[in-house]
Amino acid sequence: MKHFLTLADLGPTSMREILDLAVRIKQTRQAGEDTPYLKNKVLGMVFQKPSLRTRVSFDVAMLQLGGNALYLSPNEIQLGSRESVADVARVLSRYVDVVMARVFGHYDVVELAKYASVPVINGLSDYTHPCQGMADFLTILEYKGDFRGRKLVYLGDGNNVATSLLFGAAILGMDCTIATPRGYELHPAVWAIGYKLAAETGARLQATYDPLEAAEDADVLYTDTWTSMGQEEEAQQRQTIFPPYRVDESKLTRAKEDVMVMHCLPAHRGEEITDAVADGPHSALFDQAENRLHAQKAILVWALDAA
Ligand code: CP
Ligand code: NVA
Repeated sequence: MKHFLTLADLGPTSMREILDLAVRIKQTRQAGEDTPYLKNKVLGMVFQKPSLRTRVSFDVAMLQLGGNALYLSPNEIQLGSRESVADVARVLSRYVDVVMARVFGHYDVVELAKYASVPVINGLSDYTHPCQGMADFLTILEYKGDFRGRKLVYLGDGNNVATSLLFGAAILGMDCTIATPRGYELHPAVWAIGYKLAAETGARLQATYDPLEAAEDADVLYTDTWTSMGQEEEAQQRQTIFPPYRVDESKLTRAKEDVMVMHCLPAHRGEEITDAVADGPHSALFDQAENRLHAQKAILVWALDAA
């Protein structure tokens, strides 16, 4: 069963395969041709949290691949409370061909995968956001042409998005620096996996508390919200701690001249990123958002062996 739970599980061969497929499917679509790889297939989308990009891009991806998607709201399924995660997995597997789930605890998506008899795709968990990561590396490939010798710098919270970036960079041989405030670092277990993956590719991974030093010579500057879904009660405290990590002009001047700026969105303009940078000439934000669609088509086609 080809589940898509973390980029680390995926490894280099599948990651390259999905990226190649995404490029091909995007080009075909842009040439005005159809890509009906998933004719009559159905995706079940389980959401415990809100979404714009993930929900719409998976829905449209299935339509454009010739299939259908079902949106299952948090109230409907009540994963783990109305019904056990294992039973939800068993039942959904009898109706749909592939499941995508956005959950709080990563263990829930692992549990779904354990009991499902169809592929399960992680549409964001507290641990990692691999669909986002796949769209991010597709966007970097389009802007920079390659990963090796390039430097990806993430500024902000050591969260699920930072984890996907670290894993993806390590797998693809891209250097990656993660700058967070003290107390908000990526978990040591995440670094351990990152270093193990990087040993295969020679990617240089680095952690720092200094956002300006981190931004030095960056090819990519990436940030995300300071307060992720589920951490709302910490928002005020985080707003006092994170401002030095804001992606603003002071970071841009340290980076390479042709630096691209990325953000998974939704953005909190004026907090982790300024309007001037989000809307400025270095911004890749909306190409990146578009690429969720193309990358996820590739993930779906890969998971269902339908290419
Ligand atoms: N980046 C992202 O996953 O956006 P949504 O939360 O809107 O799906
Ligand atoms: N880190 C953010 C990403 C949102 C797409 C969150 O988990 O809320």
